[in-house]
Amino acid sequence: MLSYQHVYHAGNFADAHKHWALSLLLQALCKKSTPWRYLETHAGRGDYDLTSEEAQKTSEWTAGILPLMQAKGPCPPEFDAYLAAVRALNPNTERLTRYPGSPAIAAGFLRETDQLALCELHPGEYAELKRQFGRNRQIHIHQRDGFEGVMAMSPPPEKRGLVMIDPSYELKEDYQRIPAYVNKLTKKWSNAIIAIWYPILAEKRHEKMLELMRQLPLNKTLRSELILTPVARGMYGSGMLVVNSPWRLDEQLQAGWAYLSEALRGDPKASCSADWLIAE
Ligand SMILES: C[S@@+](CC[C@H](N)C(=O)[O-])C[C@H]1O[C@@H](n2cnc3c(N)ncnc32)[C@H](O)[C@@H]1O
Repeated sequence: MLSYQHVYHAGNFADAHKHWALSLLLQALCKKSTPWRYLETHAGRGDYDLTSEEAQKTSEWTAGILPLMQAKGPCPPEFDAYLAAVRALNPNTERLTRYPGSPAIAAGFLRETDQLALCELHPGEYAELKRQFGRNRQIHIHQRDGFEGVMAMSPPPEKRGLVMIDPSYELKEDYQRIPAYVNKLTKKWSNAIIAIWYPILAEKRHEKMLELMRQLPLNKTLRSELILTPVARGMYGSGMLVVNSPWRLDEQLQAGWAYLSEALRGDPKASCSADWLIAE
């Protein structure tokens, strides 16, 4: 069993980037009335307690969601859905005490006809997901390997939807595994929107993954990256690839970048980009 626990990192700058982009993808799916399904390989627990010992130990959220929530000035409408999901968990307080993980954000977009399928291997995280969402008939929770589970469940009956791939990259082979996985997945379900989050580390391991992705026979694949001041060790950037990127996602990300960079004002070198890894 891997040791990674997302509660230490919940709400950090990378989550702000990832979950903001995720909210834009879910909004895009809701533009049509036809049902969609959201499948996630590595769901986490869905709702993080920012007052917990673990979250307090690193306090990463104080340099991510906290300054974003406190940012002054007119907030671009592109952030409305994401920030509403954070506020929904913190209704009666000015203080942030909880942070929504990707399952909670996706659950907030469910219409009567839509479904979530969430895979999470860790017994504690799985139990917490079950506790939160187990009674919702539209949310299917699986304690199984997410790569294997999502592949087995694809394509879903709706044939329309989003696959979120968000491993911890504790296993270095994930960087090689993901392009091969996406290649296989798109052969089973060609019009799936596939979001792949990746860390940007001093070792720049993501570059090999991007190179391998570029060689795949994919349609429009958008890359968006949020980069802070480089550090000698650890993560200093957050990346997201979106295969079969919805119409105008690039413009929406670009419209919000200045605000996001400004909100992370503790880091004057914060920079953002959205470009096509694979154009149509
Ligand atoms: C980065 S966290 C997920 C965060 C979540 N997607 C979010 O944005 O809120 C990665 C999660 O994957 C789980 N995990 C690790 N290996 C897994 C596997 N093979 N299949 C499914 N889940 C796994 C870990 O327990 C951890 O909760």
